[in-house]
Amino acid sequence: MSTEKTFSFRNRWFTVSVGVLAGIALLAALVGFVWLPKAHARATMASLWEAICSAAGAPAPFQGAGLPAEQQRFPTSVIVNAGMMDLNGGGSVGKGATLAMACTMCHGARGTSPAGTPHLAGQPASSTYKQLRDFASGHRPSAIMRPLVMELSDQDMRDLAAYYASLERERIADIAPSAHETPRLVRNGDPMRSIGACSSCHSPHALRPATPVLEGISETYLRDQLHAFRDGRRANDINRQMRNAVRNLSDAEIAALAKYYAAR
Ligand code: HEC
Ligand code: HEC
Repeated sequence: MSTEKTFSFRNRWFTVSVGVLAGIALLAALVGFVWLPKAHARATMASLWEAICSAAGAPAPFQGAGLPAEQQRFPTSVIVNAGMMDLNGGGSVGKGATLAMACTMCHGARGTSPAGTPHLAGQPASSTYKQLRDFASGHRPSAIMRPLVMELSDQDMRDLAAYYASLERERIADIAPSAHETPRLVRNGDPMRSIGACSSCHSPHALRPATPVLEGISETYLRDQLHAFRDGRRANDINRQMRNAVRNLSDAEIAALAKYYAAR
């Protein structure tokens, strides 16, 4: 009569049952976490990791559902480089002014919006142009802007971008002059959390292509966009520049940053 313990790997039956059980568990996990989500008709799950996240209920990063498959791999269809909008990218300010009649209702008579809509006046032409292209392609989803830009040709977008770049951003009277000091994140970022200084890209002096100027834009809008980058609802930033910058920010930090830029 053997004295072997039941729960020991020396017991052949025990080893076999543990092995079979582990095999079943692995198979079930593969089916539930990988195969089913992949077979699900959404082509947005590019990687194994995303398939697993989606099965576990984590929201998948947003990609325009209407985007053709090969476009979904890129944050934008615009090629951005330092020289892209030299001399306003061949846009005509005069033609842009005429086209902009269709935009005044929401973006203000001269591109400074009194409501929560973003200001366009004083925005670098490369930035406005890129956003218009991204609305049109669906890389930046917007139920409001998309139908409006579908009508525009590439030249129209260049003209509009040139026009708005030529305008000076007016200060909205009822915003009190900024009293608080510059947040540390704006000046220095936070190297420990790999957050770059906002001002290294967003300062009007940084002159980085296709990077919006944030000064004076509505607080609500800024906060919404920061949340959208953090949640992955907005993902049209090249090289994840913005998604990386806000990934580790708290709600309170986002609120403070939005407030700071809005009051400038
Ligand atoms: C019905 C209101 C409305 C009209 C008309 C409108 N826009 Fe917009 N626009 C918005 C809203 C709202 C946003 C913010 C994005 C969002 O919430 O979807 C926006 C965003 C933008 C942005 C992105 C700005 C940024 O800082 O990223 C650009 C560029 C823009 N609009 C250009 C235009 C142009 C050019 C026209 C005219 C052809 C126009 N818009 C007409 C409402 C409007
Ligand atoms: C590495 C450069 C870089 C850094 C650092 C950076 N940004 Fe940005 N930011 C960008 C670019 C580029 C865009 C335009 C993205 C696109 O193409 O749509 C942008 C867009 C934005 C927008 C959307 C503006 C609009 O008009 O829609 C906000 C808000 C913003 N950044 C805030 C911040 C804040 C706050 C910080 C600091 C925590 C920061 N950014 C750090 C490059 C940067």
